[in-house]
Amino acid sequence: MNNEKDTSLLFTPANIGPVMLRNRTIRSAAFEGMGRNNNPTDELRDYHLSVARGGVGMTTLAYAGICESALSFKTQIWLRPEIVPQLREITDGIHDAGAKASIQIGHCGNMTHRSTAGCLPVAACTGFNLYSPTFCRGLRKYELQTLARQFGDAVNTARDAGFDCVEVHAGHGYLISQFLSPYTNRRRDEFGGSLDNRMRFMRMCMEEVMKAAGNDMGVLVKTNMRDGFKGGLEIDDCITVAKELEQLGAHALVLSGGFVSKAPMYVMRGQMPIYTMTYYMKQLWLKYGVRMVGKYMIPTVPFKELYFLDDALRFREALKGQLVYVGGAVSREGIDKVLSSGFDFVQMGRALINEPDFVNRLREGEERCDCDHVNYCIGRMYGDKMVCHKHCTDIPKGIQKEIDKIKGDKR
Ligand SMILES: Cc1cc2nc3c(=O)[nH]c(=O)nc-3n(C[C@H](O)[C@H](O)[C@H](O)COP(=O)(O)O)c2cc1C
Repeated sequence: MNNEKDTSLLFTPANIGPVMLRNRTIRSAAFEGMGRNNNPTDELRDYHLSVARGGVGMTTLAYAGICESALSFKTQIWLRPEIVPQLREITDGIHDAGAKASIQIGHCGNMTHRSTAGCLPVAACTGFNLYSPTFCRGLRKYELQTLARQFGDAVNTARDAGFDCVEVHAGHGYLISQFLSPYTNRRRDEFGGSLDNRMRFMRMCMEEVMKAAGNDMGVLVKTNMRDGFKGGLEIDDCITVAKELEQLGAHALVLSGGFVSKAPMYVMRGQMPIYTMTYYMKQLWLKYGVRMVGKYMIPTVPFKELYFLDDALRFREALKGQLVYVGGAVSREGIDKVLSSGFDFVQMGRALINEPDFVNRLREGEERCDCDHVNYCIGRMYGDKMVCHKHCTDIPKGIQKEIDKIKGDKR
């Protein structure tokens, strides 16, 4: 069936701030691992062009660091003026395919190493992050103002590079979320203590972002609905944060959850393929360390279709502005359900890693994507570029065994 004339909500255009998308689908920021020395590559361009040609309303280049200390992988983009021409090639291609282009901007705080970040990792507080693992240094007040300005600079660079929107990463235990969460923020100054104080750094960043965005760029913010572990932010505080983001002028909120340095699979659900993850890791000490303790540190959180919907509905009730649903959107029925529940857009990660043209296929009558959520793409991201295992022709035996086991465990 060819549904070129499908007029359902899914295929109607809508705006994010000043930017009109041709339909309600967005490729979520899912790390491609395709940069080289923190610069974009042809491979990164080709992947996003395939997604744009595959029918999405907008595609998002995953996490790009706003400065050097924001980088957690060499294969990530460092958003800076020097790479504007290469990014232009990507955004031009996306626009030629009829889609809009967004880029996620953020700072990883304590989730990096000196060798990648160019300095001792910085964080809300001095301490040790077991998950990297690394020591980190608490940021001084004057540095916070500089970082906030760098968020604004990143928006201007994104505009120069032809992006229509930016997505500020304020969730998943990245730096803004490290300030929001009582687990990582034990500061005694005006940036710590009450939730209002913990929101101060986010407020400073958003003020710079909105100033730089002016009236021609769309601003999305990815924010947590829960941190996903005891001692982290829970839903009521996260609703307060979301209301504040609306007040600060964000055009749309992407509702997610989880904390990479504490509850990583709360973000994506399912099992982390530890063998796969360590197979691709380059540093030997990390490879064997994680192989020994990984399964205790990264608990499985069962996957189910639309796993964030119940929480997201509470946000829908509490908020007035545009909301983007993300998390386990894999079928036409599910996507329609999300849109008819009052969400304005649906983001998809794994469905579009598995099938970059999933949106066109939905239009043609496909009911469900072919992703089996064994999370090979997630394990692989720790040392190689993003690929779905279904597109690999050279899967090593040990990894195949792990994939089969995870599939078996799910049954
Ligand atoms: C391989 C991979 C990499 C990801 N990288 C990022 C990232 O850089 N930034 C981010 O906010 N979320 C990241 N995510 C989370 C996704 O954007 C999305 O929130 C999550 O996968 C749930 O959507 P899905 O069920 O459609 O995959 C990543 C997910 C995957 C699978």
